[in-house]
Amino acid sequence: MSDKKPLVEMINICKHFAGLQALSNASLELFPGEVLGLLGHNGAGKSTLIKVLAGAHGADSGEIKISGESVEFENPNNARAYGIETIYQELALCGNLNASANLFMGRELTSFGFLRTKAMRVETQQALTKLSIKIKSLDVDVETMSGGQRQAISIGRAVHFDAKILIMDEPTAALGMEETKMVIELIQELKSTGIGIIWISHDIHDVYAFTDRIAIMNGGKNVITCATKDYTQDEIVSMIISGRALPKSQNSEVSEAN
Ligand SMILES: Nc1ncnc2c1ncn2[C@@H]1O[C@H](COP(=O)(O)OP(=O)(O)OP(=O)(O)O)[C@@H](O)[C@H]1O
Ligand SMILES: [Mg+2]
Repeated sequence: MSDKKPLVEMINICKHFAGLQALSNASLELFPGEVLGLLGHNGAGKSTLIKVLAGAHGADSGEIKISGESVEFENPNNARAYGIETIYQELALCGNLNASANLFMGRELTSFGFLRTKAMRVETQQALTKLSIKIKSLDVDVETMSGGQRQAISIGRAVHFDAKILIMDEPTAALGMEETKMVIELIQELKSTGIGIIWISHDIHDVYAFTDRIAIMNGGKNVITCATKDYTQDEIVSMIISGRALPKSQNSEVSEAN
């Protein structure tokens, strides 16, 4: 990764909520074309950190750079303008609207004040086809779709609006195995296009299987940031639980893999 310039640099971010220090000098780097797993106990500060990056929370102090440029985000639209898209498991889509209406929500195509429904439908079809996303019909409300299909539409939306940085907060927590597989395949395809992905998950198997690096947090602080395969799964779990960094794995299987 060191030969590439970081897409995202979050440096010494602090954030408190009414007497609670949620982030204490938390830092994070994300490179193009990588999946960074963001891990830690409940309350470790993962969501708060990515909400700062997504413009949903203002930080008390610290710096954010996007492709080397210092930025200050006052709202999610500021972050979107820099290609930062966030996907949440539950809040991703509006159930009572179809795929196209969801894809363009807040960014509708209009002409003389009228919605360009047909054009949005065509673009939606193109966006989904580009990522080999198959849904039954473009005309049904997304609440009739599976969790995986909804995730796929959210990913399609992010890509359509030119995401450079895709943040996924527990995206597969409520998905079945097949659906999780589909979302992971999509993510791998996006990786190859140079998008940087931050993946928050409690599923250590998924994290281990397909993240390039991991960042572990505890009590709002960084514990360690490392190549995933420098540690065994058990060692990663142990660092999450203890909140303490371990020396690089001595495990022979892991060492051979490098
Ligand atoms: N809007 C808020 N108001 C007050 N406290 C908050 C708010 N959001 C988060 N916190 C607190 O900040 C700390 C970090 O929370 P955060 O949601 O970032 O953790 P997390 O690592 O995402 O945890 P989880 O794995 O449970 O999602 C927690 O103690 C949480 O209670
Ligand atoms: Mg969270």
